[in-house]
Amino acid sequence: MTTRITTPFGFASTAAEVLDGVDLTGRRAVVTGGASGIGIETARALAGAGAEVTLAVRRRDAGERTAEDIIATTGNKQVLVADLDLADQASVRRFTAAWEGPLHMLVNNAAVMAAPETRTPEGWELQFATNHLGHFTLTTGLHGALAAAGGARVVSVSSSAHLRSPVVFDDIHFRERAYEPWSAYGQSKTANVLFAVEATRRWAGDGIAVNALTPGSIRTNLQRHVSDEEIERLRAEAGAGASQWKTPEQGAATSVLVAASPLLDGVSGRYFEDCEEAGPNRPGTRFGVAAYALDPEAAERLWQVSVDTLG
Ligand SMILES: NC(=O)c1ccc[n+]([C@@H]2O[C@H](COP(=O)([O-])OP(=O)(O)OC[C@H]3O[C@@H](n4cnc5c(N)ncnc54)[C@H](OP(=O)(O)O)[C@@H]3O)[C@@H](O)[C@H]2O)c1
Repeated sequence: MTTRITTPFGFASTAAEVLDGVDLTGRRAVVTGGASGIGIETARALAGAGAEVTLAVRRRDAGERTAEDIIATTGNKQVLVADLDLADQASVRRFTAAWEGPLHMLVNNAAVMAAPETRTPEGWELQFATNHLGHFTLTTGLHGALAAAGGARVVSVSSSAHLRSPVVFDDIHFRERAYEPWSAYGQSKTANVLFAVEATRRWAGDGIAVNALTPGSIRTNLQRHVSDEEIERLRAEAGAGASQWKTPEQGAATSVLVAASPLLDGVSGRYFEDCEEAGPNRPGTRFGVAAYALDPEAAERLWQVSVDTLG
């Protein structure tokens, strides 16, 4: 039995508040999807605390605009941009091959949500391929750099949508079952939590902590595949269990807590929500974590399936 982690921060805290007084000078961070939504505010807060931050993005122009903006608002010139398309394994491998030196914080933040049925050239379902397999190759490819940092942290940005589906090992890529965009998103977000569980088991000896989180509900480009009516329908369905909207600055708070707060020193393999460790999901609500997402056997199985899939 372990004690649930709580902090002085909560639902309304911002990323800047969480890192107030934290000095990240000399630390290096990568934020995937760092040119949109929560990723921008995650990167801004880390840069504001003095870290060197690389925005790992698939649209270089957006990355460069965001880097300029973060440099202007924080005064930290060490904001870099690198190309990364998580749906393209060759692109991910180019990124990891080009990385030099230690990496102290890897924030696996990028994602695609509720996309219409789409497959990569390998035939993989796009959300699983992007949200899980892309980050799997990225993180395992950066393992040496993370181990070299001494006390590195990996952040798996999941979602309360993980409550919509476990990883369906019998048919991960929807070859037999009918495609359903929310199940596919939910499955990929469960995979993000399971990754933290198994990476913790494998890498604790390397001083690498890996935790997962949900940022809350934030209006961003993530909802591009979802109409306003659909969002309202889902919120009505959740009833009193629906979470309130956060600003992107609030949405980034749990990510930077997990990435950089000394309050979480030595903590790994857990799932956070509103700046504290989540309890078990209460049925009928969209809060808390599903037991299947923290299941060590499923975590080990997913790792092996990922290795086998990637060849
Ligand atoms: N917003 C919410 O309410 C909410 C709730 C729960 C969880 N989350 C999680 O929070 C994280 C950030 O989401 P957000 O709301 O900030 O969404 P967002 O504004 O859409 O940002 C997602 C980022 O992922 C990038 N991305 C998508 N596919 C990619 C690929 N193949 N390669 C590289 N980058 C890719 C996007 O790049 P482009 O800009 O080029 O498209 C974008 O920068 C996600 O993991 C999401 O699942 C968000």
